[in-house]
Formats: sequence, structure tokens, C-alpha cells
Amino acid sequence: PSQILDAANRQVFLGTFVHSKSRAELEYMHDTAVYVDEHGVIAKIQKSGSDTVEETLKDLGWDAASVDRHVSTEGQFFFPGLIDTHVHASQYPNVGIFGKTTLLDWLEKYTFPLESSLKDLNKARRVYSACVRRTLAHGTTTAAYYATTDVAATNLLADLCLKMGQRAFVGRVAMDNPDLCPDYYRDESAKASAELTEQTIQHIKNADPGYDIVSPIVTPRFAPSCTSEAMHHLSALQRKHDLPVQTHVSENKGEIDLVASMFPDSTSYADVYDRHGLLTPRTILAHAVHLTKAEADVVAARGAKVSHCACSNSSLTSGAARVRWLWGRGIEVGLGTDMSGGYSSSVLEAARQAALVSRHVAMGEESGDRHKLTVDEVLYLATRGGAICVGLEDKIGGFEEGKHWDAQLIGMRTVGPGEGEDGETESEDGNVDLFSWEDWEETMAKWLYGGDDRNTKKVWVKGRLVHSRRGSGRQTK
Ligand code: GUN
Ligand code: FE
Repeated sequence: PSQILDAANRQVFLGTFVHSKSRAELEYMHDTAVYVDEHGVIAKIQKSGSDTVEETLKDLGWDAASVDRHVSTEGQFFFPGLIDTHVHASQYPNVGIFGKTTLLDWLEKYTFPLESSLKDLNKARRVYSACVRRTLAHGTTTAAYYATTDVAATNLLADLCLKMGQRAFVGRVAMDNPDLCPDYYRDESAKASAELTEQTIQHIKNADPGYDIVSPIVTPRFAPSCTSEAMHHLSALQRKHDLPVQTHVSENKGEIDLVASMFPDSTSYADVYDRHGLLTPRTILAHAVHLTKAEADVVAARGAKVSHCACSNSSLTSGAARVRWLWGRGIEVGLGTDMSGGYSSSVLEAARQAALVSRHVAMGEESGDRHKLTVDEVLYLATRGGAICVGLEDKIGGFEEGKHWDAQLIGMRTVGPGEGEDGETESEDGNVDLFSWEDWEETMAKWLYGGDDRNTKKVWVKGRLVHSRRGSGRQTK
């Protein structure tokens, strides 16, 4: 329905490419050419020293004159699109608003009133458009979204993702338990929870172009908000349609106590989900701050994944999740902004916060140094780790032939103080100037710790240009 969804031209990207080779190590590919076909799929990657671009185009049978070329210039590099494995699109207007609250009073005071107000579709359209536009500008090419309980507004979010070209998982939030949910914001019954969820699944499945880049995701909000009956229904829906699942687990101590009192037959928070068939290889569990060893073992055994929401966990004083400990127990981890529990919609910020929180974990333990996450490790979490969490590691997260071109062009311009136009002391990329003395590893550290959306020049999803920063060429809007 939109121009962005038209088939892209064939494209060649030339220059420097950076992506994760492993959890521990980024790989730098210079003087490289990446050929992207009209479906947005990487047809060929040509490292330096091999054939010329013209020869390769001939080999591919592509008409050289009609191929679009994009070059990374000095201080620029192509990087995989960032993956937000946990984000509440409906909470976008509340970024930064949390005061001294913790999870349960935060939900009651700020979150449920805002979410319930989005049954006004005009408001939902404004909020969701702004959220998708903003996250694309931050380089988020894939997002696992929570919308609200409202079907029409949730379906609208899915439509907007399709239209604006963001790869997304869109979940209608299921919550039917009157012990936790307020009267003004709650599914009427367990049966209604399932039926309303099915309506969004059908809407997205039947959308044109359907499953292309937007998928439904089964979303029981969290155990305290759902009756046992609702969770059983949602698990049945998951199996019927073979869908991913997202929920929250073990975020806050008060929440954990509440779960223990509400589900006295379960041995732990994670066990509640396990008994309802909701721990699957396609399940994304947000937070997992206070998991016990026994819980981590059942999560690992089921192949469920964890979305690490470091910014949110600090903002709501939930605690410090231990990524290296989760990895050590065999759990795959990605990053979540958890906006607006987290105050930022940027996955780069989430990566930075993950690095800082890992240092707090390190400071809290004797010889805790091993807990510190490196630049390379948090950028892995933001890309390949996220891809594994959302079950798309075959398609996104890095640059390989056969993968989709979900990517961004990052610019760290080589302008030092006094070198800019008109005696400017700050380049257009802000205060993160490359002064030409650092190497590529240090450039990545500068991007992680000092970068922001000013450095995100262009963003592509499945080969389509979905964001272009003012002053960096073609505009999307
Ligand atoms: N637990 C249940 N709902 C929410 C939510 O909206 N945000 C966070 N951070 N935790 C939750
Ligand atoms: Fe959340």
C-alpha cells in the first residue's frame, strides 16, 4: 500500500562493513562490496582483492546501469540493523516519566491509564506513527512490540509497521485477571483474552503482504495479570498458529512475591509459565533479573530466550540482570529498550546501559570482573543476540549471503574542533568527532558510548530505505 513496499532496485553497497563474528568479537570488512537483490536479499559479498564490481555485476547478470550504489565514505560504516526484543509502543508518550515508582505502582499510576487511552484510534495513530518513525531513526530495523488490549489499535500498529517498513512482531496485550488489572483496562474473561488475540492474529495473517515483515506474537502481559485459564488458551493459540510468545518474568521482588501468592501450586515464577506451556523456543522473556538457578535451568531446557532490559531495570529500580550468568547457563540473550520502563527508545542506549549495568554487577562481587561486558559483546546482543531471540537468526543480525539487507549506515565524521565549516567546533555528528587518531575498535567504542541518532544516516529493512537523516541524501518522507 505504500511506496516503501514497492520492490526495491538491485543495489550495491561499497565500503566498510562491521558485524559480529562471535559473541566476543566484531568483524571488520573493508573495501567490500555487498550485492542486494530486488527482494532485499544479499546475493553476494565480495571482499577486497577479488573481482571488480563491474565483473561481478556481469556474473550476476545484473544491468550495471540500473543498479543503485551506496558508498560508505571516510568515518562511515555499514552495521546490521538493531533489534529491540522488548518494547511497548503504547508507552511512547511516557518516556522518562517514572519518578520513584517501582513496577507495580508504576503500572497502576502511569502505564495502565496511558495504555487504556489508546482505544481512541486517533491518539493511537499519532502515538504509534511517532514510535515507529523514532525507532527507525535510531536504527531499529526489528521490534517486538506490545500494543494494548484494544484490537483495533493493535491492528493499526501492525498496519503502520508494514506501511513504514519496520520489521515487527506485534502483540495484543492479554490481561484478564481482576486481582491485578483495573476495571477500566482488562479483558472481560479468559475466553475474551483468547478471542481478541485471535482477531489480531487473523488481521496480520490476512494483511497484504501478510507475514512478509510483520508477524503476530502471543502476549500474555505477565503472570499476575492473567488467569490460569487465559494462559492455557493463549498457549493453545501459540501451538495452533506456531507463533512466538512474549511476556515478562522475574523483574521485581514484589512482583515475584505476588506471583508466589497467586500461583501457590507453582514452584517458581518461571514454573508458572512452564506449567501453562508458555516456555517455548520461540518465547521471549523480558527482564529475568532475579531468576534462580532452577528457573534458569528450566528456561534453558525449554530453549526460551531472555530480553535484557538494562535501562528499565535501573529506572524502575528492579535490579541488575546478569548477562554473563545467563549465557553461562545456556540461555540466549537479546536487548530490550522496554520503553517506557526504560526511558529511551534507542537500542544503542540499551546496549550502553547493558555495558554499565554489567559493571555494577562486577562491582557487587569480589573478583566480579568477568561480569563486565565489552563493546563487542553488547553490540552482539543488539544484533545477532536479538535475531536469535526473535527466531530470525537465519535472516537478520549480520551480513552473510542469503540474509536480508536490514542495515544502517553510521557516520562518525572526521571533523575536529575548529575544522568544521565557519569555524564550527562541533561537527554535524555532534560531540563524537573522530579526531583521526583512533583505530576501528575505538571508533566502535565511541559510537556505543557517545553516539546517537545523529550518527544513524540511513536505515534499510529488507533492502528498502526506511529512514534517511536530514542532510544525508534522499528523504523517506
Ligand atoms: N510487567 C507487566 N507489564 C509491564 C510493563 O508494561 N513494563 C514492564 N517493564 N514490566 C511489566
Ligand atoms: Fe516491559
